This record gives sequence, structure tokens and C-alpha cells, in this order.
Amino acid sequence: MTKAQTSSHDHILILDFGSQVTQLIARRLRESGVYCEIWPFNQADETRIKMLNPRGIILSGGPSSVLDDDAPAAPEIVFKMGVPVFGICYGQQTMVQQLGGRVESARSREFGRAYVDVLEDSEITANVWEKNAHEQVWMSHGDHVACLPDGFEVIAKSDGAPYAFIADKERQFYGVQFHPEVVHTLHGRELLKNFTHNVCGCSGDWTMSSFRAEQIAKLRTQIGKSKVICGLSGGVDSSVTAVLIHEAIGEQLTCIYVDTGLMRAGESGQVVSLFRDNYNIPLIHEDASERFLHALTGIDDPERKRKIIGSMFIDVFDECSKRIGGADFLAQGTLYPDVIESVSFTGGPSETIKSHHNVGGLPEDMELKLVEPMRELFKDEVRALGRELGMPEDFIRRHPFPGPGLAIRIPGEVTQSKIEILRKADTIYLDEIQKAGLYDEIWQAFAVLLPVKTVGVMGDCRTYDNVCALRAVTATDGMTADYFPFDHEFLGRTATRIINEVHGINRVVYDITSKPPGTIEWE
Ligand code: XMP
Repeated sequence: MTKAQTSSHDHILILDFGSQVTQLIARRLRESGVYCEIWPFNQADETRIKMLNPRGIILSGGPSSVLDDDAPAAPEIVFKMGVPVFGICYGQQTMVQQLGGRVESARSREFGRAYVDVLEDSEITANVWEKNAHEQVWMSHGDHVACLPDGFEVIAKSDGAPYAFIADKERQFYGVQFHPEVVHTLHGRELLKNFTHNVCGCSGDWTMSSFRAEQIAKLRTQIGKSKVICGLSGGVDSSVTAVLIHEAIGEQLTCIYVDTGLMRAGESGQVVSLFRDNYNIPLIHEDASERFLHALTGIDDPERKRKIIGSMFIDVFDECSKRIGGADFLAQGTLYPDVIESVSFTGGPSETIKSHHNVGGLPEDMELKLVEPMRELFKDEVRALGRELGMPEDFIRRHPFPGPGLAIRIPGEVTQSKIEILRKADTIYLDEIQKAGLYDEIWQAFAVLLPVKTVGVMGDCRTYDNVCALRAVTATDGMTADYFPFDHEFLGRTATRIINEVHGINRVVYDITSKPPGTIEWE
């Protein structure tokens, strides 16, 4: 979102205290047609906030503790402007502390699914949560509110947070310990919508199509008459990026598909033919598999793998660019989740979880300038944009596949033989998922080859082979996820097939970790 749109829309200011999911607040608001801006808390001074003149202010979560010295705080003006304020997790805690209440370190921390009991009605819970209901939310906190400031009352409580939802109805200050912005808080979207529409009075007139039109105009200005190359992985992100850029600048775009040797079975052929059959965009198919594998020899650290792969991609793109007479720009399908977990999008204080190859792994001396029109979008928004652009469902429905490919699904050193073993297991797993008609119910499913050997017995012989972990998650944006609840028969059938058909694997386990605390990929 850019400032260009602020003039004609109501807007909400989100002050970012560094939560990994701050951007989700923005997208939940966008889904209900509300324009918003995210500012790092420490870049929001009184003058700027007054100039923005928001209809309401949301204080995000964050990794700090208000009990620490130098804990981040909201500028005092936030509570003096006469606009509604909604504090989420850390945002609630700093609001309470700043208004004269007390926060303490909880004896037991709450992460993941939790339940709240609704004690009172409020404008935010109206027509969403009934009084006395028991509602599912998503928690991620160590500290909690222990004493309320004057004027506040309790709307809901949980076992780990006696003040899970609080309100000062007079001043229209609200605070929640849980995260309404993540999809695993059931009805969280409606709670936020009640805040923006009922409490702040926003009309909801901001749409995704205005975002698209603006991006096309922005791309034309940014690129001018220059040439652009676009790294195509076959996934939805890079495909939609390519089609959008093609719509903006036509023949100035050339797509490049790099075969890293880290792709799934048959993927390269599928991607290239799918793209050539559907679009008339020039496409270079570059086989760089030996180079990637060579560069990864002896490397087992996940961050180093990502950086090596990122820089190898750039070398290959540079070479291809020279071959077409020199490109000035490299287009990438970088999405918001890739950005937020590498550095904070807004320059705010979020922690680095992993360097996604198309963000943190880029070399500093790269000659190509970046074009990343999806940088503020989430996967499901990209899918919606793809449909709007008239793209085939085949592209749009594909599970995400990360740039570093199978390398981050082989903890430890990546070798050709491990890649081949993993590919076979992965193919069987996806085949069983397709046969069971479950592909579209799952956000992403894949196999991981563990660097752990265990003893088994096959026929009358002892085996000593690797463990394969299966992962399948449900999600809508990849920022939070839950494991997919396969039935035991499915898991048993798939495990038997993998062990029988893949030499090198003699044990299969299923990963039931949610995100957080896990990430979707293993590295
Ligand atoms: P994590 O593992 O961070 O993944 O929970 C969230 C989503 O992002 C994908 N992913 C990547 N995509 N380059 C990409 O293009 C990367 O380096 C990368 N790492 C993770 C992951 O597959 C999941 O869908």
C-alpha cells in the first residue's frame, strides 16, 4: 500500500512493535476494505500521527517484555487523540502499563491454541461472540496483564490470561492478549472488522483491484523502457508476477527458469511446458543443476545453504541477462511472509527467523535492480490476483515450493543420492494425496529426508537406513499453520509404500508441529 491512496479512504494506523504477524493485521483490515499503514512504533511521532489523522490506532504484538528496561512504548499522543485504540498482545500490555495498570511475567506461557470465556458484551464482540461463550483463540505470550488501569473492564478471560480481552468503553480503548489477526483465532477477522467498522466508523471502500491497477502504473514508471528478466519457479508467486509484469510492459520481459537440480520429480518439464503452452512470453530454460550441487558440497548450515543458493541464482540470472543483451531489472515473486521473516518490512524491530533465498540471500554487489510487485501480498491474495488476471487454475492451485527447493528439506549436507531418495518419497506421498482427493485441502505437503539412521528389518535382513518425515499443513497465508489431520489408514498406507519402494528409507514419521512454534519448512 502506498500513500497515494490515503486521500480518498478512511485509514487506520498500525504501530508495529516487531511481531512476526503484524502484517496480518494489515491484511485482515484490507480484506474488509479498510486502508491502513504500518509504522514502526519508534518512527511515529506526534506530528506525523496527527498529520495522518487516522480513524483508529492498532498496537501490534512484539517480542519485547514491558517489564524490561527500555521496553518499547506507544507515543503518548496515541491515548490523547480521542480516537479508538486496539492493543494486541504486547500492544495490550504496553497500553495497560502506560495507562497506569500492571503487567507481570506469567507462570505458564501460552503458545498456540487456547480458549477464552466471554464474560461481557462489547462493541468489538457484537454479533460475533455471545456472552458466556467459550471461543477458540491463538496465543503467543509470556507476560500478561495483572491489574487493569482505571476505566477498564474484563470482556473475556482464558486459563493463562485472566485479562484476555479488556475494554474501556468510555474512551474506546480495547486490548486483547490473543492474536485476532491469525486465522487460527476463529472469528478474529470479524472482531477486527467490528473494531474498524463499528468502533472507528470506517466504510470499507478499499479493494484489491485498486492495488492491482496501482501496481501496473508503478511498474511502468519504475521500469520505463528497460528490459526485465523474471525468475520463474512454476509456483503461483513467480507466475503471477510474470503475468502482471507482462501486462505492464509486454515484450520488455523475458522469463528464466533455472533448473537447480533441487526440484521435485518431473517439475522442470511441467513448468516449462505449462508456461510455454499458456503464455507467449519468451522463456529461457537454464540447466544449472551441477553448479548448484557443487556449491552446496560440504555445507550443512541452513542459513549458509540459503545464502549460497540465493547468490548462485543471481549469477545465473546475470549470465542469462547478458545473453539477451542486458537486462536492468530482475523480477521476483517475493511475498510478504518471505520478507517479514528475513527483516522487518517496515524497518521495525522484528527478529530474523530465516533468510528466504529471494530476500536475505541476495549478494550486496548484485548488478540487477529488483522488481517485486508482490512484496506486500500474501499467498491467498496472490491467488486472487491470478484469478483476476485470468490465469489457469493449474497455476493458481499449486502448493507453494520454496526457492531453495529440496535443499532445505534435507537437513545436513545435500548430495545427489539424498536428492534422489527424497524425490522418490515425495512423489509417492503426493501421489497418495492426489489419489485420496486431498490436494486442495492442504496448503503444502512434502517429505523431508532426515540425517538420522535407524535399524529396521525387511524380509529376514537387518536394515540401517534414513528416516523420512512427512509434513502437511493447513494455512491461508503461510504465516501460521496447523498440521493436516490425515486418518491413520492414509498415513499407514503411505508409509508402507515409501519404505517398500524407496531404497534408503526404512522408517517414516509424521510431523504434527503447528506454526508457531515450528516453521512450515524444516530449515
Ligand atoms: P516457513 O518455513 O518459513 O515457510 O514457515 C512459509 C512458506 O514460505 C515458503 N518458503 C520459501 N519460499 N523462498 C521461497 O520462495 C524461500 O527461501 C522459502 N522458505 C520458505 C515455504 O515453503 C512456506 O510455504
